Amino acid sequence: MNKKTVRDIEVSGKKVLIRVDFNVPMQDGEITDENRIVEALPTIKYIVDNGGRAILFSHLGRVASAEDKKDATLAPVAKRLQELLQKEVKFVPETRGQVLEEAIANLKDGEILMFENTRFEDIEGKKESKNNPELGKYWASLGDVFVNDAFGTAHRAHASNAGIAANIKETVAGFLLEKEIKFIGGAVSNPKRPFVAILGGAKVSDKIEVISNLLNVADKVIIGGGMAYTFLKAQGFEVGTSLCEIEKLDLAKELLEKADGKIVLPVDFRFTKKFENEPASHVGPITDIKADEMSLDIGPKSVELFAEILATAKTVVWNGPMGVFEMSNYAHGTIGVCEAIANLKSATTIVGGGDSAAAAIQFGYASKFTHISTGGGASLEYLEGKLLPGIEIVANK
Ligand code: 3PG
Repeated sequence: MNKKTVRDIEVSGKKVLIRVDFNVPMQDGEITDENRIVEALPTIKYIVDNGGRAILFSHLGRVASAEDKKDATLAPVAKRLQELLQKEVKFVPETRGQVLEEAIANLKDGEILMFENTRFEDIEGKKESKNNPELGKYWASLGDVFVNDAFGTAHRAHASNAGIAANIKETVAGFLLEKEIKFIGGAVSNPKRPFVAILGGAKVSDKIEVISNLLNVADKVIIGGGMAYTFLKAQGFEVGTSLCEIEKLDLAKELLEKADGKIVLPVDFRFTKKFENEPASHVGPITDIKADEMSLDIGPKSVELFAEILATAKTVVWNGPMGVFEMSNYAHGTIGVCEAIANLKSATTIVGGGDSAAAAIQFGYASKFTHISTGGGASLEYLEGKLLPGIEIVANK
């Protein structure tokens, strides 16, 4: 990687600003998935173990009014971080001002402070999200160096990443950002071949750019999930009441042409009349579908076919479920694919965030993947081949 990391700078005695992405899902004040916090620990530990004064900050949710603030405080996240680190995390419930500045001034080498949700600054004029220059400059003034470890936010150019970077001597990557660049960036720019991408999810429209970019770099692009039906319809098959984007049929045709055989579609499906977790009424090829039926999952022959293709891969990127995996009767395809990828012995296997990351974790395969991305939108944009502002701000070596 040609980007500077935290290993390339002196942190001892320095006030180290660390942008993390602790935008974690919460329910009734409880964190329901702490993966993003866990993944940020190596950078934080490295900085404090090397005598740095860690100043952490993140956004959480979207904050449009003062009313939104009470459900968006980072206090529970700071508490969980403290438990995971087994080290005090001084939480300052401010995003600027004297209290915060004094807390930072009193911070000693090896200590950790975390300040409040950066999007509290969005209440008046979206200062954080619109990268208000005064705000980026102010936050930059609170530290000596800037470590960006927020891959999940790398597709945003906000005050708490781009704004700070524009006003501080040097910005380097934390270990999580480094890992995401190495695996996702590596897969799209210089993959070990064969490179097989497996994409799912509901809509072609969400993944056009990803499919298009991956057709340029991957050897095979397997398509499952809801978007497969638009491709099947584009090939002239009837798909009953399955999810289908009629207005994307021409685009699907174009992609199939561009693919020149690289796109692999499912060969069998689980059919049902209702969008409910009732067992499928029958399983078979798309030609078996009745006009009043929909498919909610791929069938066993598709899993077998996909597993055969995956078995030859040296690099695999998986993004998007194969069916409605939230319903147990329609989770078989997603579990089957997850298992097939998890069992690959000599391939670099990458889960590109979002639903597929949740599925890999939920089905217990997390430790079997080389890398599970912490990005949702960021992973998608990275797979689209875009330059991400949060990576662009990091100094080159
Ligand atoms: C995410 O969860 O994708 C990131 O934290 C970015 O959040 P945002 O979409 O609210 O900017």
